[in-house]
Amino acid sequence: TSTAATSVSISGDISSQLHGGYFHPLARSWQAERQLTKSMLIYPLFISDNDDDETLIPSLPGQYRRGLNKLLPFLQTLVSKGLRSVMLFGVPLQPGTKDALGTAADDPDGPVIRAIRLLQQRFPQLFICADVCLCEYTSHGHCGILREDGSLNNGLSIDRISDVAIAYARAGAHCVAPSDMNDGRIRAIKLKLIEEGMAHNTTLMSYAAKFSGCLYGPFRDAAGSAPSFGDRKCYQLPPGGRGLARRAIVRDMNEGADIIMVKPAGQYLDIISDAKELGRDLPVAAYQVSGEFAMIHAGAKAGVFDLQSMAFESTESILRAGATIVISYFTPEFLDWLST
Ligand code: PBG
Ligand code: ZN
Repeated sequence: TSTAATSVSISGDISSQLHGGYFHPLARSWQAERQLTKSMLIYPLFISDNDDDETLIPSLPGQYRRGLNKLLPFLQTLVSKGLRSVMLFGVPLQPGTKDALGTAADDPDGPVIRAIRLLQQRFPQLFICADVCLCEYTSHGHCGILREDGSLNNGLSIDRISDVAIAYARAGAHCVAPSDMNDGRIRAIKLKLIEEGMAHNTTLMSYAAKFSGCLYGPFRDAAGSAPSFGDRKCYQLPPGGRGLARRAIVRDMNEGADIIMVKPAGQYLDIISDAKELGRDLPVAAYQVSGEFAMIHAGAKAGVFDLQSMAFESTESILRAGATIVISYFTPEFLDWLST
């Protein structure tokens, strides 16, 4: 006599049946290790030294360079939609501001320090990151201080860059993020933060694996930071340099980085995954850079795909690779899309 259990005949290969696990939208979402949330997003902002400026950046669709008077009402709307964090970039436009040492980077009356102070007062819940570099402020447009022969003076550069980081932290930035790629900058900044008694309340985010290449073009238009001669190949990583990126990540963790970043993101998903493996005990950030953003817009405009679908697909890939923080020009759109 047969029981109900034995009467079920099983034939075929059970392991071939996957559809049942993801037929439902909720079950589909459970397939991801991490879901995009508003708190993962950092929005990059270009802050001009003309307080009333509001200029569309032609190569960065929908992105503006704004002075402080225009920035505050703009951010008010975003904060009310759930914006949690921004990354500040200063854009000095007044003639005569740039010099060989990037003196204007930590000018107390410059756009970044004034913005940090104002945003901190007006939006106490907003986590303020400040990009730390000299290229927006140097006459030659390089990310450090140069010798007479045009080569990078690493020692002077990290002295100067760590001073700039301290000035931003003192003004009230919650996070300083050096993007210059000089050797030893993380250690130099961390030591000064300790010396100044600010190591406990300043997050140090390292652009640890920052590759050189053609994806920063729209940013350099926006910030006016293209080098006047040469390129950034002696300090930014070569695109094929996976091992070098791993060494840079380990080095920056050992020098005291609290967060490590990979940049660009979409073309370097293997590096994000390496960063997560090497840095499993700290958060990994990825910067979907200006060229990636512009490319997605261009593709959508050409009818290749729907903009929103691609914004999600590209960002979810970044999360899948291992990042839990995404620096994204799509942040304002995501605040709307993630609310519905
Ligand atoms: C400055 C800096 C750059 C970016 C972030 N910080 C440009 C560069 O290194 O040339 C790129 C960001 C983007 O393209 O969106 N050091
Ligand atoms: Zn730079």
